[in-house]
Amino acid sequence: MSLELTAPTPDAPEVAEDGVWLADIETGETYAPFDEIRYTGEDGNLLEVRYADPPTFEDFQGQGRGVWRYRAALPFEEGVSLPEGDTPLHEAPRLREEIGVETLRVKHEGMNPTGSFKDRGMTVGVRVAKELGVDRLACASTGNTSAALAAYGARGGMETLVLLPSGKVAAGKIAQAALHDARILEVDGNFDACLDIVQDLAKLGEVYLLNSLNPFRLEGQKTIGLEILEEFRDDYGRFPDRIVLPVGNAGNTSALYKAFRELVQSGALDPSEVPMLTGVQAEGAAPMVEAIENGWEDTKRWDHVETRATAIRIGNPVNAPKALPGIRQTGGTAVAVSDDAITEAQRDLAREGIGVEPASAASVAGLKKLRDKGVVDADEDVVCLTTGHLLKDPDAAFEAGGKPEPVANDTQAVLDLIGAN
Ligand SMILES: Cc1ncc(COP(=O)(O)O)c(C=O)c1O
Repeated sequence: MSLELTAPTPDAPEVAEDGVWLADIETGETYAPFDEIRYTGEDGNLLEVRYADPPTFEDFQGQGRGVWRYRAALPFEEGVSLPEGDTPLHEAPRLREEIGVETLRVKHEGMNPTGSFKDRGMTVGVRVAKELGVDRLACASTGNTSAALAAYGARGGMETLVLLPSGKVAAGKIAQAALHDARILEVDGNFDACLDIVQDLAKLGEVYLLNSLNPFRLEGQKTIGLEILEEFRDDYGRFPDRIVLPVGNAGNTSALYKAFRELVQSGALDPSEVPMLTGVQAEGAAPMVEAIENGWEDTKRWDHVETRATAIRIGNPVNAPKALPGIRQTGGTAVAVSDDAITEAQRDLAREGIGVEPASAASVAGLKKLRDKGVVDADEDVVCLTTGHLLKDPDAAFEAGGKPEPVANDTQAVLDLIGAN
């Protein structure tokens, strides 16, 4: 495995506070983490949080369950919590058999408090917002970020503003944002346009931005990777070969890569044990897949994106400069899947009792496709990440599932209908 897996270096610069600082991923320029609000480096490059003392597995022992178990890998000891994390790593025996891999486990992030992995990022992000003394939080969202921001903002007693692409957000997610009392603005444009506007508002100092462009969000999301490694090792005595995950803004891909790099850096994980990060996009919104297929070039923004998996209907993955090296350095890949394949995978998971929204099922659809193509081998141990709960998108669930049948208010009519003798 490449040396890049061992970066970043642990030498704390003068600007560090309690061994934590921000670094520009391109230039290496360092910044104090909490002196001022900063989302990017001077040239608009992405920032990442760095630590003088990267974590080992021993640091997590006896620290409880959930995101804050991993406080040794986070910038604070505790956050604004509901609490989050500690999600199930389901077995899926029929699906494993059908796909044909050695091991298949499904990490169901839909079991977080607001029904998606976004809660892991928000518990840290809203804690940082409190440290910075801001009072209005904002995000652009395909839905789940807005639900999580609204809930965590409410928990923290802060005002929240969410910008959503009009007509393209699943009902469950808007309902959550509304009830948790976010101010909801529906923009006549796609997610990428919403993010452009929220970034403008953040630059003007009107809001504190809590999209995954904010490097602190990704710190919380690292804990998905840490939980997977710990749980898989406890069950099998080894780490998974591959983690397959849906990709929208590529925040999780970046966060998992960072979690693994930090463990490699502390000596807790051997580079050869790092799982291959494998991203899945919908065919109608696949700029990362395109970039990889074109020889690992930079991603190009897709202005027109469309997919039933609205959570990943994103044409300009802002975290691509972090995620592409992650996929490449771990020996992974990315693949695009059709909407029909996503719906089929949603049904496959449902047959195992695992209820997910369409974007989540993309991971399983991607694994199937890569196994069919021979990219994934039969002897691999695989974890698929499912990112959001079935109830997030009830319309998609109705479309994918069986239809209710009307029947008279009469036992015999029911017996006749079910074909009983
Ligand atoms: C359910 C679901 N899956 C996947 C994603 C994409 O995640 P990421 O932006 O980390 O690639 C999102 C986020 O928008 C989501 O809501």
